[in-house]
Amino acid sequence: MSCPHNNNYRDMEDSIHTDFNEDMSYADYLRLDQVLSAQQPLSNQHDEMLFITIHQSSELWLKLAGHELTEAIGNIQNADFGHAFKVISRVKQIFIQLTQSWNILSTLTPVDYLKFRDSLGHSSGFQSYSYRKLEFLLGNKNAKLLKVHQSNDRVYQELNKVLVQPSLYDEVIKVLAKQGLKIDKDALSRDFSQPYQSNTSVLNAWLEVYRNEEQFFELYELAEKLVDIEDAFQQWRFKHMYTVQRIIGNKMGTGGSSGVSFLKKALDISFFPELFELRTHL
Ligand code: HEM
Repeated sequence: MSCPHNNNYRDMEDSIHTDFNEDMSYADYLRLDQVLSAQQPLSNQHDEMLFITIHQSSELWLKLAGHELTEAIGNIQNADFGHAFKVISRVKQIFIQLTQSWNILSTLTPVDYLKFRDSLGHSSGFQSYSYRKLEFLLGNKNAKLLKVHQSNDRVYQELNKVLVQPSLYDEVIKVLAKQGLKIDKDALSRDFSQPYQSNTSVLNAWLEVYRNEEQFFELYELAEKLVDIEDAFQQWRFKHMYTVQRIIGNKMGTGGSSGVSFLKKALDISFFPELFELRTHL
């Protein structure tokens, strides 16, 4: 039985603000006129709007993840593990959210996509600077990938800065040393623009942490949080590759790569290799 006071209608309350001639509104604060006018399909195909929306919303989440990881790096530098854990947990949830969005894109059939694919020209997610920044912050460094950003000086400089700086994992390795674990000098003062290579002293340090988890509880927790991020990131990489396979098969990418086989190679890249190796030795 329905409530006698409810006639399926909610009345406005008198206290609700309605005059935004002078006052800042929701749309003003969020710059919604800018955000919501940025969906500009280049074809007249219905599904291009989904394609644009999924990319733009992903870009916002990637930007936020970069913002959070930068904070986490600062927290680790200041030995503020509590805040680092909080922020790293958020990054994991962002990646879970991003991975979920592939299910929406999977409703785009190969035939639908082909109807507007030519409109994309050579543009590709490969040129996503927020994504590249995130990979660099996490430690997957590759100077060659800066090339595609040469036409945008601001982005190029920003990515170059992150490329040469220590990654999240480089900072964590410094913490291992600060806490008295034996780390080789060349693992601490390496050329940070180079891809991180697994190091035996780092592996042994993590083994000591995992074998004495009560003594090194914070480091142990930090390590498991990093594993959470890599896990979530790899699921995004996998679902991207698999969705791409579902939509374009083995065609080349619009960015010029071999497509799915190029994306598959990224699945072999680990941000924190020793954290996975140590599991074999426990
Ligand atoms: C129909 C949908 C999609 C297709 C067919 C597709 C295809 C591809 C392909 C083939 C590549 C390799 C580079 C190239 O040659 O273009 C690539 C890279 C990439 N795409 Fe997508 N993609 C799709 C959707 C998305 C979405 C929604 C995002 C979200 C931001 C995204 C982000 C990326 C990123 C970040 C890379 C670089 C990955 C890496 O460096 O390993 N893609 N995509």
